Amino acid sequence: MQNTQSFIKDNGQRFVDELLDFLRIPSVSADSAYDADTRRTAEWLAGRLTAAGADGVAIHETDGHPIVSGHKLIDSMLPTVLVYGHYDVQPPDPLELWTSPPFEPVIKDGNIYARGACDDKGQMYMHVKAFEAMQASGELSCNVKFLFEGEEEVGSVNLEGYLKEHAKDLACDVVLVSDTSILDNDTPSITVGLRGLSYVEVEVTGPNRDLHSGTYGGAVSNPINSLCEMIASLKDERGHITIPGFYDDVEVLSVEDRAAMNEAPFDLKDYQEDLEIDSVRGEEGYTTIERTSIRPTLDVNGMWGGYIGEGAKTVLPSKAYAKISMRLVPHQNSDKITELFQQHFESIAPAGTKVVVKPHHGGEPVVTPTDTAEYKAAAMAMNETFGRKPIPSRAGGSIPIVALFEQILSAKTVLMGFGLDSDNIHSPNEKYGLFNYHKGIETIPYFFHYYKQLK
Ligand code: BES
Ligand code: MN
Ligand code: MN
Repeated sequence: MQNTQSFIKDNGQRFVDELLDFLRIPSVSADSAYDADTRRTAEWLAGRLTAAGADGVAIHETDGHPIVSGHKLIDSMLPTVLVYGHYDVQPPDPLELWTSPPFEPVIKDGNIYARGACDDKGQMYMHVKAFEAMQASGELSCNVKFLFEGEEEVGSVNLEGYLKEHAKDLACDVVLVSDTSILDNDTPSITVGLRGLSYVEVEVTGPNRDLHSGTYGGAVSNPINSLCEMIASLKDERGHITIPGFYDDVEVLSVEDRAAMNEAPFDLKDYQEDLEIDSVRGEEGYTTIERTSIRPTLDVNGMWGGYIGEGAKTVLPSKAYAKISMRLVPHQNSDKITELFQQHFESIAPAGTKVVVKPHHGGEPVVTPTDTAEYKAAAMAMNETFGRKPIPSRAGGSIPIVALFEQILSAKTVLMGFGLDSDNIHSPNEKYGLFNYHKGIETIPYFFHYYKQLK
C-alpha cells in the first residue's frame, strides 16, 4: 500500500492534467449535436484505461452511445470488483450563467470548474488513476473489471441489454461506484440509498390552432391554463401527492430509523442561505433530510407553450407541454407509478382539452445494507484517509443501473462517492474539489485492500 500511496503523491499533478483533458471533450449524451464528441470521449477513455494497465479494453457499440470496458484479472481466487461510472455529462445550458466556459476547465480556489467535473468524469477517473497506481506498484489486491457508459444522464437505456448479454463477462463480487456525495469534506459518508425515478412528458391540446386571445378568449379551454390547473391539483396543501395509489407501496421507516437519519449533520440556515431562500417547503411532517431521501416527490422540470418571444402577442395557444419527474422510494415501482400518473392525469383533463402522457426513462430505488464486507471495506477505507468513520446516508438522486446490478449480476453496489451537494452538478458552474479528487484516488486502493481481507 505504501508504494501505491507514494505513486499517487508523485503523480498527483499529472492526474489532474489528464482529468482536465477528459473534461475538455463535451460528451453531452442528451444532445445529438455532440454525438461525435461523445464517441471521442469513449475513445479517449479507452486509451487511458489501456495506458493505466487494463487488459482487453474495448469499445462496444450500442443503439446509443458506446460502452467502454476493460479488466485486470490477477488471480481467480481473489475477489472481483466491478467499477462502474459514466463518461457522459448533462447539457451545459444556460451558458450565460457560467463564469468560465463549461468545456474549458479552470482551477480556481481549489476547485476544478467544468461540466462533468464531479458528475461523473472526475469521480470515475479517480478509479482509473487509483488502478494505475495499484498496478504500477504491484499492489493490486483484487481482480478488477471496468464498465463505463455514456448514457447515464439519459436513463442508461442500452446498458440493461448489455448487462444481460455480458452477464458472464461482468461476473463480480461487488460493484464499486463513485457518483454520489459526502456530507462535507470533514464528514465522510457512504450513500446507502438512491431514489428511483419515473419521468413523463405531457402534452395538452386545446383548439386545433393558435387563436386570437380576444376573439376566442374566455370561450375555450386554454391548454396552458388547463395544464397549470392540472399540475396544481397534483399536490394538496400539505404537500401530499394526490395521485390515487401513489403512496401505496412506500416503505414506512421506524421512528428509530428516522431519528437516526436526522442525526446527520445538517444546518437548515446554511441550506437556505446557500440557495438564497427564506424558507424550505415540502411535504408536511417530514424534515428536509427526509423529504430528500425517504419520501417520494413530484416536480415539474420544464414547461412550455404559447408565445415567449419579445414583446406581447395576443394569442391563445393550441398546445402546452410539461416534463415531470417523480422520485421514488422503496418499494415503489417506476412502471406502476408511471401508469398511475398516466391514468390520473388523463382523467383530470378539463372539458375541451386532450391530454397525452408520454413516459420517458425510469429507474428503481435502491437501499444497500451496511452489515456487509463491501460496506465495511468502504467504511474502513474512508476512515483511513479522512480519519473519521463515514456516516451512512441516503441520497435523493438516482442511478438507474444500480438496481439492475443486483437483479442481473446478483451483485451488491457500494456507493462510495466523493462529491459535495454544493458541487453544482447539472447546474451552471459545476465544480469538483482538488481535495476530493485526490482524496478519492487515495481512498480507493484502501477499499481494494480491506475488501480482499474481509471477503
Ligand atoms: N450522479 C447522479 C445521481 C446522484 C447525484 C446520486 C447526487 C446521488 C447524489 C446521476 O448522474 C444523475 O444525475 N442521475 C439522474 C438519473 C436520470 C437521468 C435517469 C438523476 O438523478 O436525475
Ligand atoms: Mn452521475
Ligand atoms: Mn447526473
